[in-house]
Amino acid sequence: MVKSYSKNANHNMRRPIVNKDIVDYMRTHLKESTGHLAELEVFARKENIPIIQHEVVAYFRFLLQTLQPKKILEVGTAIGFSALLMAEYAPDAQITTVDRNEEMIGFAKENLAKYDSRKQITLVEGDAAEVLQDLDTDYDFVFMDSAKSKYIVFLPEILKRLTVGGVIVFDDIFQGGDIAKDIMEVRRGQRTIYRGLHRLFDATLDNPDLTASLIPMSDGLLMIRKNSENVILPD
Ligand SMILES: C[S@@+](CC[C@H](N)C(=O)[O-])C[C@H]1O[C@@H](n2cnc3c(N)ncnc32)[C@H](O)[C@@H]1O
Repeated sequence: MVKSYSKNANHNMRRPIVNKDIVDYMRTHLKESTGHLAELEVFARKENIPIIQHEVVAYFRFLLQTLQPKKILEVGTAIGFSALLMAEYAPDAQITTVDRNEEMIGFAKENLAKYDSRKQITLVEGDAAEVLQDLDTDYDFVFMDSAKSKYIVFLPEILKRLTVGGVIVFDDIFQGGDIAKDIMEVRRGQRTIYRGLHRLFDATLDNPDLTASLIPMSDGLLMIRKNSENVILPD
C-alpha cells in the first residue's frame, strides 16, 4: 500500500482537457504496454501514483525512437516508470533521474534493480533545487515531471545543461484547464502553480532563443527546443 498518494490526490489527472470520449479512445486504442512496463503502469494507476498517462506513454515511444537522445535528464522519478520507458525506447541513452520522496525512491530503486537491464539509469536522491546545481553533464533531452510551480525556478539551470538543439518536455502544464482562466476563478490552493506556469509560458513561448509548442495531451505538455547557446530569460 502506497502512503504518498491517496485516491483524492492528483485532482487534475481526473480533469481531462480534451473531450472525454477522445481521451478514452486514445487510452483504449494506443498500443498497450507490455512486460514490466505494463506491470508498473497497472500498479501506479491502482495506487494513484501520478505517472504519465497512457497517451503520453505512446507519444514518448514515438518521440524517443525518433530523436534517439543520448543523455537524458528526468526530474520526478516516482516509481521509475517513465525512466524505464525512456530507457526502452532510447537504448543508447544514459538517463539521470531525480526524486526527493523517500517512499518513491524505495520503489524506484527496486524497479530499476529489476528492470534496468542495460544499466542505463542513475537515480539521484534529493531536491532538484540542489541536485540540478551540481550536474556537470550536458543533456539532449529533459523530462520535467516534478512540482509544477517550480518549473520556472529550475528552467535556468536546465537550459545551462541543455545542448543546442536539445528538447525539454514539461508535463501537466494546463492544470485541468485552469491555466486559461482568470486567477480569481482558480482555487486558492492552486494559485502558486498557476502563477509559476504563467511565468514559465512568459519566459518560453515567445522567446527567440527557443522554439515552443503546447500540446493538448493528458494535462498538457509544453515542449521547447533550445536554438542558441545563450538563452535570454526575463528577470
Ligand atoms: C508526477 S511524479 C513523476 C512520475 C514519473 N515521471 C512517471 O511518469 O513515471 C512526480 C515526482 O516528482 C517528485 N518531485 C516533486 N518535486 C520535486 C523536487 N523539487 N525535487 C525532486 N523530486 C521532486 C515527487 O516526489 C514525485 O515522485
